[in-house]
Amino acid sequence: MARLAVIGGSGFSTLPGLEVERREPVKTAYGETSAPLTWGRLDGCPLLFLPRHGDAHGIPPHRINYRANIRALADAGAKAVIGLGAVGGIAADCQPGVLCVPDQLIDYTSARLGSFYQGEASDPPLDHIDFTEPYCADLRTELLASAVQAQLPLRAQGCYGATQGPRLETAAEIRRMERDGCDLVGMTGMPEAALARELDLCYAALCFVVNPAPGCGEGPVTMAEINANLSLCSATVERLLQTLTRQRRLRDQATTP
Ligand code: HPA
Repeated sequence: MARLAVIGGSGFSTLPGLEVERREPVKTAYGETSAPLTWGRLDGCPLLFLPRHGDAHGIPPHRINYRANIRALADAGAKAVIGLGAVGGIAADCQPGVLCVPDQLIDYTSARLGSFYQGEASDPPLDHIDFTEPYCADLRTELLASAVQAQLPLRAQGCYGATQGPRLETAAEIRRMERDGCDLVGMTGMPEAALARELDLCYAALCFVVNPAPGCGEGPVTMAEINANLSLCSATVERLLQTLTRQRRLRDQATTP
């Protein structure tokens, strides 16, 4: 059973290098997942994959069924989830091409269904999850160790600001986010991280900067720029994930009698 899952974001409708074993549409109590769930192997390590924007990248950030996606991964046996995310860079050292594993987040989204808890008949029953540290320390450490192993530069912390989208932010909104302490801005990091915590999944985000955040670069942000940097980043993300899965496989082999 695959214990590791990867949620693909922009640029990752499929996961390069994944040997696909089967794909299955999944309907949960919260509705359908963004796409059929894919079971496969990356570098020999069993892995579940789900593209959050759908197979054809047609689902915008505010219309993603985050609850169905997280519920389906948990039901399929995932214990750890890596959420890939293209982001804008706010901090001066978060230029296009930089990879970052954030350690904090601020949620600026609105009107998204952000919890599994739904009153009396709620499953799971109501709890106020601790979200002091929103990302799983173990999985962040594993990602950072894999980057060292693969000799890939990876920013070891950062604050992710989740915005509503689908429009990009104004320069003033980004200035406010900068004052708040955000280093990165993206549209899909919440409620995904909180939902994963509600189901006790170990969740970490792996972000890659595809543009200077609005107002931080020269001129407007263009999709051409974003897409060009997405292609640049995807090879690095792929290498990092392959290193991580190889390490997992070797660890499992060493501990299996
Ligand atoms: N803002 C919000 N989300 C994003 C950006 C951005 O600049 N770039 C990629 N995703």
